[in-house]
Amino acid sequence: MTTAPAWWRSAVVYQIYPRSFCDRSGDGVGDLAGILEHLDHLVWLGVDALWLSPVYPSPMADFGYDITDYCDVDPLFGSLSDMDALISAAHDAGLSVVLDWVPNHTSDRHPWFVSSRSSRSSPRRDWYIWRDPSPSGGPPNNWRAAFAGVSGTEFPPAWTYDQASGQWYLHLFLSEQPDLNWSNPAVQSAMTATLRFWLERGVDGFRMDVIHAIAKDPDLPDLPPERSPIPMCAWIDDPACHPLVSLIRSAVKDANPDAVVIGEIVLPSVAQVASYYGRPAEPELDLAFNFHPLHARWDAAVWRRQIDLAVSEIAPVGWPAWALGNHDNPRQRTRYGSEARARAAAVLLLTQMGTPFLYAGEELGLADAAVAPERLVDPGGRDGCRAPIPWTPAAGHGWAGEPWLPWPPQASSGRDVESMRSTPGSTLDLYRRLLAARRASPALSLGSFAWLPSGRAAEPVLAYRRERDGDERVVAVNFSESPATLDLPGGSWAVEVSTHPRRASAVPNPLELRGDEAVVLRPGR
Ligand code: NOJ
Repeated sequence: MTTAPAWWRSAVVYQIYPRSFCDRSGDGVGDLAGILEHLDHLVWLGVDALWLSPVYPSPMADFGYDITDYCDVDPLFGSLSDMDALISAAHDAGLSVVLDWVPNHTSDRHPWFVSSRSSRSSPRRDWYIWRDPSPSGGPPNNWRAAFAGVSGTEFPPAWTYDQASGQWYLHLFLSEQPDLNWSNPAVQSAMTATLRFWLERGVDGFRMDVIHAIAKDPDLPDLPPERSPIPMCAWIDDPACHPLVSLIRSAVKDANPDAVVIGEIVLPSVAQVASYYGRPAEPELDLAFNFHPLHARWDAAVWRRQIDLAVSEIAPVGWPAWALGNHDNPRQRTRYGSEARARAAAVLLLTQMGTPFLYAGEELGLADAAVAPERLVDPGGRDGCRAPIPWTPAAGHGWAGEPWLPWPPQASSGRDVESMRSTPGSTLDLYRRLLAARRASPALSLGSFAWLPSGRAAEPVLAYRRERDGDERVVAVNFSESPATLDLPGGSWAVEVSTHPRRASAVPNPLELRGDEAVVLRPGR
């Protein structure tokens, strides 16, 4: 008997950054009511699940990734009952709900840390990572924290001195985000209890923030000098992390075997990312983010290599996860330099073998907002990609209050959901057609991957075939601004989706692709 594939394999997950999605309360910060109001957009677009960046109570030093209570909702976003209503409305609409979960660190105002720092003899002292000063009186080692601050240039030490108790505490991110000590079983049980809390409320899984960082070598050795200027969170990959991820997975699956366990892994090699799928005897993540493609240049050879690595390193051990945008990185259009390339990137993202994650606003072809220096708020320099989503053409764009960040470019000249919905050929229309094509095709959603044989070595076109149970699709992406030719496999083909608005459905062989064009082809008659 064959079992049906897990739901998240064929899903497209839509990432909502709640602060920037839609404000209903009038304070200029997006909220749960705003998300509820626009669930119909997700259904119309054709995604399967939504992932909410953190909405927990937080002093917002890192805009929600600094949590003071893992089992509540910040009043800025709404209440627990708003969350219950959102989960139930999403389920009624056929959407799964994935919550962000931040296991590596809490806020420094979390009651656990307030107790931990209160004295060396606090029962919670060992819930965080405290060390004596180095022999010279400085931080215990040379690790650097992420984020240089709004106007900073250099990464600060990953340690902050606590005058009252005469020790330093570790924080791989801001000093307001002390790292939990996951080697302490009390931390393990307190944190896994928070997962059960949300599973009992009906969520369908978690995206686990920097999960590769939660275990530390108890000796806390210095990084070699050539690595030490880079924040430690980009290197840390302690073997003790794997049993912890496995334990976290079990906590989730024991409560709901269908819930998905997604991990953010930010490490130098794809092989390291792959290792977080675990082993058959001790599985870990269901999906591990691989950010190497996100950081890859817009170049066919570079992309070929990235896809090869996903196929050779990840596919043998697990189902790949693909993300080309999120709240931490410039948007596709800004990174790749044009909307035409961002459209081709939409085809790449939604036709890979694996589960795609689509960052809200990419479907509008948004570019990053230009944020004036006096309006910069993020210590990690990520304000541009967090600009608010424009819903309507009129000033205010469907937000109740003046948004916390400036609007993205062109918000007042047609780049809003309402206008783009009624514009055939818009980027929003393209995403919708791609998502429909993917949903209707077992080959695109769950099928195997193989390159089409390519004649020339310096080919600017990447072309591949997806196949499942007799269903097949060919995808071709022209990475060049100039036209390019592609020899198609035998048989006849028809265009299912093209990024070019005026592409006819009939396909001559060889196929002439326009500059920056990407197509999905289905077998023709
Ligand atoms: C990764 C998150 O995506 C990012 O936004 C956050 O600042 C860090 N982890 C720290 O939690």
